[in-house]
Amino acid sequence: MTTLITNIKELLQVRETSIAKVSGTEMAILPTLKNAYLILKDDLIQDYGLMENLPETNADLTIDATGRVILPTWCDSHTHIVYAGNREQEFVDRINGFSYEEIANRGGGILNSAKKLNETTEEEIYEQSKLRLEEVMHLGTGAVEIKSGYGLTIEGELKMLRVIQKLAQNYPIAIKATFLGAHAFPLHYKENKAGYIDEIITKMLPEIAQNKLADYVDAFCETGYFSVEETEKIMEAGIQYGLKPKIHVNQFNSIGGIQAGIKYNALSVDHLEIMNPEDIEALKNTETMPVALPSCSYFLSIPYTPAREMIKAGLPIALATDFNPGSTPSGNMNFVVATACIKMKMTPEEAINAATINGAYAMGISETHGSITKGKKANLILTKPVSSYYQIPYAFGSNLIESVFLEGKILK
Ligand code: NIG
Ligand code: FE
Repeated sequence: MTTLITNIKELLQVRETSIAKVSGTEMAILPTLKNAYLILKDDLIQDYGLMENLPETNADLTIDATGRVILPTWCDSHTHIVYAGNREQEFVDRINGFSYEEIANRGGGILNSAKKLNETTEEEIYEQSKLRLEEVMHLGTGAVEIKSGYGLTIEGELKMLRVIQKLAQNYPIAIKATFLGAHAFPLHYKENKAGYIDEIITKMLPEIAQNKLADYVDAFCETGYFSVEETEKIMEAGIQYGLKPKIHVNQFNSIGGIQAGIKYNALSVDHLEIMNPEDIEALKNTETMPVALPSCSYFLSIPYTPAREMIKAGLPIALATDFNPGSTPSGNMNFVVATACIKMKMTPEEAINAATINGAYAMGISETHGSITKGKKANLILTKPVSSYYQIPYAFGSNLIESVFLEGKILK
C-alpha cells in the first residue's frame, strides 16, 4: 500500500542519513522541509521532498496536509505503563503535606503498587494497561519502553513482563521491555537486602532471560532504595544475561549512580533531577544517554533536570514521560515536550530532538525510529492546522494532533 501526503506545511526532523543521536549544540538544529511531500510504502517511509519535485506517484491513498505539520512520532524511552489500580490517595496525601518519601516510608509508594499488582490477575493487568497504551498512541507515541518493577516477587515480575510481551504482540508500536526487579526492597526483605539481591540475580534474571522477556535491566539507585554497590551488582548480573542497563539515578540525591551507570556502559541514565558538576562531567564523551522526565518533576514538585547546563557541556538529552501511578500518572509526550521548553528552557528544536531521535537512542531503536529518513518506520504525527511547529510546546494544554500513523497506517 502506498500513501502520498502532499502540501505538508513543514516536515520536521528530516534526516537524509540515519543518525544515532544529537548532542550539545547539534540539539538546537532540527532539519525541516517546508511545503513538502512524503510517500509511505507499507510500514516504511519511502520518499520525501519538496512539493516542486513531487514525482509521479501511483498512490492508494492521498492526503492533503495543507497548513499542517508532520513529525516522527514520539519515542518514550522510560515508562511504567503496566501497573494495577492507582495511587490517588497518595496524591491527596501529598497535597495535604506529606512528602513522597514519607508516604513510601509508611508502606505507600512502590510497595503499595506492588501489593495491588500481586493481588491482580494477569488478564486484569493487561486490560488496565492496554487502555494506557492506547491512550499514549493517540497522543503521538510510536515507540515505548515499559518496565516491570511492581511485582518484586518472581511471580509478579514475570507476570508484568508477560503483559508487556502481550502488548508488544498485539499493538503496532515498538515496545522494549526492562526488568526492574530492583525497584524497591519488599517488606519481608527489609532486614535482608542481600537476600533480595540474591533472589533477583539467581532466580528472577535466569528465568527472564530464558524466556526472553526483557531487553534491558534497571535499578532504582537512590538513598533508601538500592545503593551504588547494589546497583552495580544488578547491572553486572543483567549484563551476563545479555541485558544492557538503563537505570534510575539522581532523582532525589546524587550518590554516584551516574558514574556507576557509565562504568557498566548503561544505554541511559534516567531522572537526573539532582545533578552536581561532577555528574555532568562524568557523562561527557560516553555512549550513555541522559534522560530527563519533566512531568515527574512537575507532578512531585521536585527540581527539573538542568538541561541548559548539560547541553552547554556538549551532552545529549532525551525526554521521556516516566508514566507510572506514583510519580507521574501521565504518558503525554506533548506535555513533556512543552514542559521541557517552559521549565527547562529547552528550545522547541532541542525538545523535539530529545523526544524523537534521542528517545529512540535511549531505547536502542534509532536505526528504525525517531526521524523522517527513507527506510525508517512510517510513524508520524500529523498536526491540526498550526501557525508553526512552535505551537506544539506553546499551546501546552491543547491537543494539536489530527492523526497518528503507526507503521504506515492511520490509527483509528
Ligand atoms: O521513576 N523512582 C522510581 N520509580 C518511579 C516511581 C515509582 C512509583 O512511585 O511508583 C519513577 O519515578
Ligand atoms: Fe521511572
